[in-house]
Amino acid sequence: MEKLQALKKTFNSDIKNTDDSSEMLDNLYIKYLGKKGAINNIISEFVKLYPNQKKEWGPRINTFKKEVETALKNLQQKTLSSENVINSIDITLPGIKPHIGHTHPITQMKHYAENIFLTMGFKVVDSLEVDDDFNHFETLNFPKGHPARDMWDTFWTEDHLLPIAHTSTMQHRILKTHTPPFRVIIPGKCFRYEATDTVHEHTFYQIEGMYVSKDTSLAELIGVLETFIYTYYRYKIPYKIQPTFFPFVEPGLELLVEHKLKSGEKKWLELIPAGMIHPNVLKMAGLDPNTYKGFAWAIGLDRLVMLKYGISDIRAFHKGDLRFLQQF
Ligand code: PHE
Repeated sequence: MEKLQALKKTFNSDIKNTDDSSEMLDNLYIKYLGKKGAINNIISEFVKLYPNQKKEWGPRINTFKKEVETALKNLQQKTLSSENVINSIDITLPGIKPHIGHTHPITQMKHYAENIFLTMGFKVVDSLEVDDDFNHFETLNFPKGHPARDMWDTFWTEDHLLPIAHTSTMQHRILKTHTPPFRVIIPGKCFRYEATDTVHEHTFYQIEGMYVSKDTSLAELIGVLETFIYTYYRYKIPYKIQPTFFPFVEPGLELLVEHKLKSGEKKWLELIPAGMIHPNVLKMAGLDPNTYKGFAWAIGLDRLVMLKYGISDIRAFHKGDLRFLQQF
């Protein structure tokens, strides 16, 4: 009896003197309700009593135990109350900006360029990342052993597929599955076995374009490309067009834009190779070149973005340097 009364007293004063902290609460739990706590201690004495004493003391001990449990539970509520949490937060401190990433500048500009072509009535078709000899060379008028293959002959997988060296690898499929007149663009990632420098990279992006109808012309091709670059750069960027050779176009041309170097010197940068689709390419897809005409191009997306932002080295895109990427 004495022990129980003394315990009640200490418990009441403990509860009064608590500072509502969670450590204090833990200590009280251990002290009273723990395995070796005060209440279990009393119970171990209780079992030694005579049955008639047990009848009297059993309920009293139980009531005390319940009181302790409720008191500690209430205390816990208080400790966890929002008042306490709020007090521990200094709402006058400046917030921390969450660190959320964003899409790569190439991806951003790919979408931007796609939208320009969408307004011109083109639809977007995805490219592949590996393809076979047939689509990569054969159907593009590169017969086996043709010397021009060397320019695109890059890596081969063990299954005789190659990571595409240009998005033109989709041309035959598009010609086979679309009825003229049609216009599509095909953005894709390309790979080349080549020495890198400030304007050449082994992995880069192209946006292929194709337009086939009965009466299109070279003038229309140039018109589309000019409209695109003026819309993309939002001003009349100086450009020139010169003839060049690709086995799958006739005539072939390339559009170059003026590129200011760090030194202030101006240089022409090849931005869009293009041309009128070669009659053999149309024929291989079952289209009569006497009835149908088409043009195609491939924009060098990385270079397009370089010129927009004045980036002096194409290799910056794939270095993964956050100081570079976070600027976009
Ligand atoms: N596929 C060519 C290249 O990557 C570019 C090109 C596309 C040329 C379409 C003409 C027409 O070099």
